[in-house]
Amino acid sequence: MPDALDALRERALACTRCELAETRTRVVFGSGRVDARLVVVGEAPGAQEDLSGRPFVGRSGQLLRRVVAEETGLGDDDCFVVNVVKCRPPSNRDPRPAEVAACRPWLDEQLALVTPSVVLTVGNFATRLLLDTRDGITRLRGRSYEFGASRLVPTLHPAAVLRGGAAAMAQFRHDVALAGSLLQGAAA
Ligand code: URA
Ligand code: SF4
Repeated sequence: MPDALDALRERALACTRCELAETRTRVVFGSGRVDARLVVVGEAPGAQEDLSGRPFVGRSGQLLRRVVAEETGLGDDDCFVVNVVKCRPPSNRDPRPAEVAACRPWLDEQLALVTPSVVLTVGNFATRLLLDTRDGITRLRGRSYEFGASRLVPTLHPAAVLRGGAAAMAQFRHDVALAGSLLQGAAA
C-alpha cells in the first residue's frame, strides 16, 4: 500500500498537533518501504535528522544501519525506521508526555500500514512506550516479547552503544541478530 503510506506521510508533514511544530525544521516521518518486515523505533530526531528530514542519519544512526545490515542482511530500505516523536525537541531534551501522546497516532498508523513481523525498539524511550512498562532496557533486552501480531525486540539505543564500549556493542549485536533470526523464522 505505498499510496496509503504516501498519503499518511503527506498529512504528517503538515502536523501541528504539539508545540514541537514551532521549533522543528522538518517533520521526520520515517524511512523505508511499506512492505518492510522489520520496523526500528527510536526516540526523536536529532539535529541532523531535523535538517535532512530523514531518521537516524547522524553518528548513532550510521551505527544502527550498519549493524542491522550486518546482523540481518537487510538493506536500508528493507527496514522501516521511525521515531516515537517525529519532530526534534529543542536542544535534544526528552520529549514530554503531551508530545508523545500527540504524536502516537502517527506511529500507530505507520505500524498498521507496514504490519512488520518484528519491531526493534532502541533505547528506554521507545521500549517503555511500546511495552507499556517502567522497567529499564538493561532488564528488558536480550529476549523478545509479544506485540500484537509481531514480535518486539528491545535493545540499547545506538547512542548508548557509542558511549558504552565493547560490552554494549556485543549486547546490541546480540539483540539485532535475535531480530534477524525471528525474521527468518517468520519467513519459513
Ligand atoms: N536518535 C533517535 O532516537 N532517532 C534519530 O532519528 C536519531 C537519533
Ligand atoms: Fe505533530 Fe508529532 Fe511533530 Fe508534534 S512531534 S508536531 S505531534 S508530528
